[in-house]
Amino acid sequence: MTNNKKLIEWVKSMEQMCKPDRVHWCDGSQEENDRLIKICVENGSFKPIPKRPNSYWVISDPKDVARVEDRTFICSEKEEDAGPTNNWMDPKEMKKIMSGLYDGCMRGRTMYVIPYSMGPLGSKIAQIGIELTDSIYVVVNMRIMTRMGQKVLDVLGEDGNFVPCLHSVGAPLIDGKKDVPWPCNTNKYITHFPEERTIWSFGSGYGGNALLGKKCFSLRIASVMARDEGWLAEHMLILGITPPGGQKRYIAAAFPSACGKTNLAMMTPSLPGWKVECVGDDIAWMKFGDDGRLYAINPEYGFFGVAPGTSMETNANAMLSMTENSIFTNVAFTDDSDVWWEGMTDEIPSHLTDWNGNDWTPDCGRKAAHPNARFTAPARQCPVIDPAWEDPKGVPISAFLFGGRRSTVVPLVYEAYNWNHGVYMGSAAASETTAAAAGAVGKLRHDPFAMLPFCGYHMGDYFAHWIQIGRMAFPDRLPKIFYVNWFRKDENGKFIWPGYGDNIRALKWIIERVEETGKYKETPIGRLPTHDAIDTSGLGLSPEICHKLCEVNKDDWLKEVEEMRDYYKIFGVKLPRQLSEELDKIEERLKK
Ligand code: GTP
Ligand code: SPV
Ligand code: MN
Repeated sequence: MTNNKKLIEWVKSMEQMCKPDRVHWCDGSQEENDRLIKICVENGSFKPIPKRPNSYWVISDPKDVARVEDRTFICSEKEEDAGPTNNWMDPKEMKKIMSGLYDGCMRGRTMYVIPYSMGPLGSKIAQIGIELTDSIYVVVNMRIMTRMGQKVLDVLGEDGNFVPCLHSVGAPLIDGKKDVPWPCNTNKYITHFPEERTIWSFGSGYGGNALLGKKCFSLRIASVMARDEGWLAEHMLILGITPPGGQKRYIAAAFPSACGKTNLAMMTPSLPGWKVECVGDDIAWMKFGDDGRLYAINPEYGFFGVAPGTSMETNANAMLSMTENSIFTNVAFTDDSDVWWEGMTDEIPSHLTDWNGNDWTPDCGRKAAHPNARFTAPARQCPVIDPAWEDPKGVPISAFLFGGRRSTVVPLVYEAYNWNHGVYMGSAAASETTAAAAGAVGKLRHDPFAMLPFCGYHMGDYFAHWIQIGRMAFPDRLPKIFYVNWFRKDENGKFIWPGYGDNIRALKWIIERVEETGKYKETPIGRLPTHDAIDTSGLGLSPEICHKLCEVNKDDWLKEVEEMRDYYKIFGVKLPRQLSEELDKIEERLKK
C-alpha cells in the first residue's frame, strides 16, 4: 500500500475514466502471480508447459503481433519537438480522443496497478513507473521484465515521483459479453506526452505496445529525460568481455529490433579462452561517473527475446534462460507439450499446434511460430549473467557499436576516427526491416542509432545531444565507436559471415583497438581491420569472402554519401553542423 497522494489521486481519476469493476494493487508476490496465472489457465488463455516449471504458452490475436509504429505518437506541445521521424498530434487533441476511448473501457474487468522500477531499486540511475492495465498478461510479463510490487511503493514513499502509464486492451465486457483469449481493439494508440512524462496506450496487448516500462518509458520518455539531464537512454545491449588472461571490458551495442542484440549480449564465443557475460540485451541507461567515464545500467529485469532462430547452437544461454518461470507468446506447441519455433531444432516436428492454434505439419506451407514470436524470461536465469548486472552504479563502457542488417555495401567491422565521426556513423545506421514492427519486412530504411521508432523528441536534437555528450568528457575517457554488420549476403541471398558465436572474431579486433594494439588500415569510411587482423581460423572462408567482408567499394560508398546527404535534409536547421562536416570529409576521402 502507499500514502503517495499524487499516486492515489491519479489512480482514482483513471479509475473514474476507465470504470473497471475492481482495482487491484499488485504486491509482486509469488502468491499473487500464481493466483493471476490460475485465472488465465482456467479461462484457457494460458497453457502450462509441463516440461518448463511455472511456464506458459500464450497465443495472441493474429492482428496483434508486433509494435505498431504508425499508431505510435509523440504528443509534445510543439510539433517541431517531435521532429520529422515521429508521428505527432497535439497533446490536448490526443487526450480528448483517447479519453473518449478510455471512457468505460475497463467495464467488466479489473484494473491492475503495477508499481515498477526500471533499474535496481534505489539506484541513482533508476526510475519508477506505475502502469495501470486491464490485462493479466501484462501484469505477469511486467513481473518478469521489471522489479515490480510493494517494494517499489516503499522506495517511492510519500512524495516520490513516478511516470504514470495507462494501458488498456480496449475491450470492455458489457451486456454479458464473453471474454476472448486475447482481447484487443482494432483502433490502437501508443502515445507519449514528453513534457508531462506520461504514457497512454490503448488497443494492443503485445510487447512494446503494452509492457510500458520497455520501449515507451525506458526509451521514448527516458530519452527526453536524458536530453534534459545530460545522460543517455539507448536501444543497446550491454556485455562484458574478457580476453584470455586479459582485462575485462564492457561494450554497448545498438542494433535495430530483431537485428541481433539478444544474441550478441549472451553469445558463446567460438574462440578459445574468450568470455562474454551479459548485463542487458535491449536497453542501456548511461551516466558519467566521477572518473569521467560513462557507466551503464540495464533498466530491465528480464528478456523479451525473439524466439525464431534461437537454438542451442545459435544462443544456448538464451535457451537455458527460459527453462522455467517463462512465458512464450506466439510460438508453436508440440504434441508432447513443449514449445517449438522455426530454427529451434534441426529436426522439424511432424505435427504441431501452430501460433494460431491450428494443426500444423511441415508440408502445410505456413510458419509454425510467428516470426516475431517472443519468450519472456528472468535475466537472473541467464547462465552468463554478469556479476555486476545489478550494480546500482552501472558498468564502465569502453566501446559503442552500431549496426543493422545490410546485405550489401557495409563491411564486417570498422572504427570511427573520433567521437564526432562515430556520432555520424550512428546517425547513418540503416537496416532492412524485420517482423518486430507491423509492416513490410526486408526493406532498407534509415534507423539512426537503432532509435528511429524509440526517440521521444526531434532526431536532429538527439544527434546534437550525442555531440554534446562528447564535449562533456575527456576524449580518452569516451568509448571508442565502431560499426558492425553480420548480415552481408552473397548473390544467392546466403549470409557470407557465420555470425552468432563467431562474432567474437569481430569483438576481438574491437577489444584490440580499445587496447590500441589491433592492426588497421585507414579508409575513407574509417579504420578497417588489415587483411590478417581478424582471426578467421577454422571458418573455412574463401579469400574472396574474407576480402569482401573487409572491403570499401568506392562507387557504392559514394552512393551512400549521396543518399545520406539527401536523408539529412529532413532534419533542416536541427542537423548539427559537425555531422554534415563529417559527411563532407568522407566524400572528400572517397574522391581522393
Ligand atoms: P529485439 O528484441 O527486437 O530488439 O531484437 P534483437 O536485436 O535482440 O535481435 P535478436 O538477437 O533476438 O536476433 C533476431 C534474429 O536475428 C534472430 O532470429 C536471430 O537468430 C538472428 N541473428 C542474431 N544474430 C545473428 C547473426 O550474427 N547472424 C545471423 N545471420 N542472424 C543472427
Ligand atoms: C523491439 O521491437 O525492439 C523489442 C520488442 O525489443 S518490443 O518489446 O515489442 O518493443
Ligand atoms: Mn528491442
